[in-house]
Amino acid sequence: MLTDKFGRHINYLRLAVVDRCNLRCTYCMPEKGLNWIKQDELMTDEEMLRICSVFTDMGVDKIRITGGEPFVRKNSIELIQKISKLNGLSDLSITTNGLLTEQYIPQLKKYGIQSVNLSLDTLDSDRFFKITRRNSFNKVMKTFDRLLEHDIKVKINTVVMEGQNIEDIIPLVLLTKDLPVDVRFIEEMPFNGSNTEVSLQWNFARIYHHIKEQFPEIQKTEDPKGSTSNNYKIPGFLGGIGIIAAYTRSFCGDCNRIRITPSGILRTCLYEQGGVNLKNEIRAGKTDKELKDIIINTIHKKPKDGWEAEKLNLSSSHIHQSMATIGG
Ligand code: 5AD
Ligand code: SF4
Repeated sequence: MLTDKFGRHINYLRLAVVDRCNLRCTYCMPEKGLNWIKQDELMTDEEMLRICSVFTDMGVDKIRITGGEPFVRKNSIELIQKISKLNGLSDLSITTNGLLTEQYIPQLKKYGIQSVNLSLDTLDSDRFFKITRRNSFNKVMKTFDRLLEHDIKVKINTVVMEGQNIEDIIPLVLLTKDLPVDVRFIEEMPFNGSNTEVSLQWNFARIYHHIKEQFPEIQKTEDPKGSTSNNYKIPGFLGGIGIIAAYTRSFCGDCNRIRITPSGILRTCLYEQGGVNLKNEIRAGKTDKELKDIIINTIHKKPKDGWEAEKLNLSSSHIHQSMATIGG
């Protein structure tokens, strides 16, 4: 099993299959988009599959497909099917913005996708436009309905932002009353692909108190090992509530995850910048055994937490990275 120097077992890989996206969420990227990865830098399906198979061989049993928007990648559904067949994988899931997703739901179901994280920051189509700069609210809601119809577990990801979607917090909590969905409120991180500063106004505690004011009966529920969310529910409600201290970084102690960017960089922490490029190693002809040695060495050096990772990587650039290139 893959273990870092703090004894944390790594069994969860987040694979970003593309950096491009069909939305322009303000907290993720500027209006004009990012400097997209060039085609020859983007990993091929074969390279992604090879990396996943090396990792499942080393004990990774959980993979999440992310982006950018995964379904913006050409034929990503075929890649997902291939990954779903890997030996040793017990949990394959996807994070999507829901714009192109609906048409693939029956296939996702067939390939054993148990859970989909849907990015949805508001239940109001005007606010949706302001946040994402695109007019696609109805498409996302349709995907949401279809996922539920197909009995796929849905977790809604909501980035909480002053002046943008605070009025959505309670309606989103109310969504969990009659629907078996989890809504996860996420602290905004400084990954917006521009030099705009982010000052965290809605941290974990403020979000919690805001919900508790309306629902004093809110109860703590179990946080599964490696979970980044603090979980709650309102008694009698079907679904659950999570709060993710993504900026405060209070969950790093039992972190079990690593990331692969669309160009093949292995990131052992979200807040880390560098890392070895596995695609380059593959293109240089490395064997699986050699790749595994590189991975073991890199993971051994996984930083203690997101604060240390950030300190180690203080970049000279004042342009923040984007979640879309890091892998959401
Ligand atoms: N801060 C917090 N969460 C973010 N996401 C993207 N950018 C940010 C950010 N700057 C989240 C979105 C999406 C997931 C892929 O990452 O909620 O659901
Ligand atoms: Fe696209 Fe997700 Fe970034 Fe929004 S947050 S622009 S949906 S990658």
